[in-house]
Amino acid sequence: MIRLANKNDVAALQLMLRKLFEEYHNIDTCYDNPTDSEILDDVNNGIEKGLYTVFTSADSVIGFIKTHINKDKHLGCVDNIFVMNEHRGKRVATKLIENFKLICKKENITRLQLTSDLRSDAYVFWKNQGFTPFASRMNLNV
Ligand SMILES: CC(C)(COP(=O)(O)OP(=O)(O)OC[C@H]1O[C@@H](n2cnc3c(N)ncnc32)[C@H](O)[C@@H]1OP(=O)(O)O)[C@@H](O)C(=O)NCCC(=O)NCCS
Repeated sequence: MIRLANKNDVAALQLMLRKLFEEYHNIDTCYDNPTDSEILDDVNNGIEKGLYTVFTSADSVIGFIKTHINKDKHLGCVDNIFVMNEHRGKRVATKLIENFKLICKKENITRLQLTSDLRSDAYVFWKNQGFTPFASRMNLNV
């Protein structure tokens, strides 16, 4: 089931965000590994603003998507997506993004945008969802 996150989901979201940031930090230490209190603030704010949507199975939260709509720029923005390791490969993330597409259509938003690291699992996922790269962050080791 897909639904907006509420206060009862705080602990599950905190856990998943911690895992997500750790995965990103493992790819490259340039990614922040926020403190527990920073994560908690983000979760509480995000729930209050309706930014977090969760995927539940047997009443447990097994994945989430964090999104927002920028009406001025007519953009649907995906800030984060995460599925618990043991539930990956079962189209949970696909269903979460399909749900966001429907919300965007209802709001007359016709373009989705996100930032993804080329080295992450998610990069392949987004490409398979039909997203195409249009800008590139460039690195040089000196
Ligand atoms: C990326 C992620 C959200 C995908 O979740 P998921 O529920 O397993 O994805 P789905 O089952 O909906 O995958 C759909 C398609 O995406 C592709 N895909 C998903 N995960 C992939 C991976 N690790 N490697 C390669 N392709 C992948 C596959 O093509 C898959 O289609 P298939 O089942 O026909 O092969 C999940 O692996 C995850 O949480 N990763 C770590 C967090 C992360 O990187 N988040 C992004 C931050 S924005």
